[in-house]
Amino acid sequence: MSQYQSSTQDVPELHGVPRHIAIIMDGNGRWATKRRLPRVAGHAKGVDAVRATVETCARKGVRFLTLFAFSSENWRRPADEVSVLMRLFIRALQREVSSLHVNGIRLRVVGDLSPFEPKLRELIAQAERRTAHNPGMTLTIAANYGGRWDILQAMRAMLSDRPDLAAQPQQIEEAHLSPYLAMAYAPEPDLFIRTGGEQRISNFLLWQLAYTELHFTDTFWPDFGADAIEAALVSYGQRERRFGRTSAQLAGQKA
Ligand code: IPE
Ligand code: IPE
Ligand code: MG
Repeated sequence: MSQYQSSTQDVPELHGVPRHIAIIMDGNGRWATKRRLPRVAGHAKGVDAVRATVETCARKGVRFLTLFAFSSENWRRPADEVSVLMRLFIRALQREVSSLHVNGIRLRVVGDLSPFEPKLRELIAQAERRTAHNPGMTLTIAANYGGRWDILQAMRAMLSDRPDLAAQPQQIEEAHLSPYLAMAYAPEPDLFIRTGGEQRISNFLLWQLAYTELHFTDTFWPDFGADAIEAALVSYGQRERRFGRTSAQLAGQKA
């Protein structure tokens, strides 16, 4: 039988703490509506939950934390909500980057940044430059990100670098494409968390979530904190990551 060479990552060396956690921060609007507040009040409160999550994950030794802040589909929302989200992003960059830097955190932003206003793009570039050599956790904000956009842009970039592959598509392997994905600097997520009760991926990291452990919680994002992260880590610790093998094979490896 021919052996299909899968590029999905293998069992992490380090058990316990996930190297990479990716989170869909959902439920801001419902958190606010439940309190008879405008939806945007939930987004503002959500920024506090981001701060708490970054601190807790860094303290626990997580190496990569990726937060979905704005999807390629979120442009479909009312213009005033989109504009508040952009203002909050600008304000968070202005207020929080110094503290990230002092704490040794490296900031990256992934997604199609071209539709963002120049001021926001400049703040992102400055924050990335300033924190680029920090040794601590890498915090990635996915903004105007979509998993399908990512795969397409990677495919385009790969074929532009390697026209020989376009001429011989049967030669293309997964490992040719993955270096062009927006998060090629990080291992694939070990743990995915979605708050807010919905159980879907909503076009987040489609390629990278192939073997990620999924954790869904009803907690609305503004209520997400250290206890909720702890619960997700406990659930993660109980999983057996087999990557296609059998339990017995894994037991053999451990012995
Ligand atoms: C997540 O909360 C924040 C963004 C998508 C920007 P929502 O705004 O989606 O909150 P719900 O799902 O409507 O409650
Ligand atoms: C996913 O949340 C995107 C972000 C959290 C940025 P949505 O609230 O936009 O997802 P759907 O529309 O419920 O799938
Ligand atoms: Mg939502």
